[in-house]
Amino acid sequence: MIRFCLNGEWREVQDQAPDITLLRYLRTQVGLTGTKEGCGSGDCGACTVLLGSLQDGQWHFESINSCLVLLIQVHGCAVITVEALAQGGHLHPAQQAMVEG
Ligand code: FES
Repeated sequence: MIRFCLNGEWREVQDQAPDITLLRYLRTQVGLTGTKEGCGSGDCGACTVLLGSLQDGQWHFESINSCLVLLIQVHGCAVITVEALAQGGHLHPAQQAMVEG
């Protein structure tokens, strides 16, 4: 079983292929399609998510290419996708900047 926090909610995952990537899981099993697949090889960044790990009782986040990470590797971690950036009905500044192009 894989247990991780996705966009603020802990979830337990079972019965997934051992080679499923975080990207594929997010898009096909959870329906979080805001995380895109571009190159699939770590070059474009379309699949970027934030990955958090607990260090000294606090979450520390880094951006990762979810196409290069197996789902099993996020066990015990926190994952934040683009869908979780907007809060209170307002776009995150990064999202707003993209809208304004
Ligand atoms: S899809 Fe291009 S870096 Fe992941």
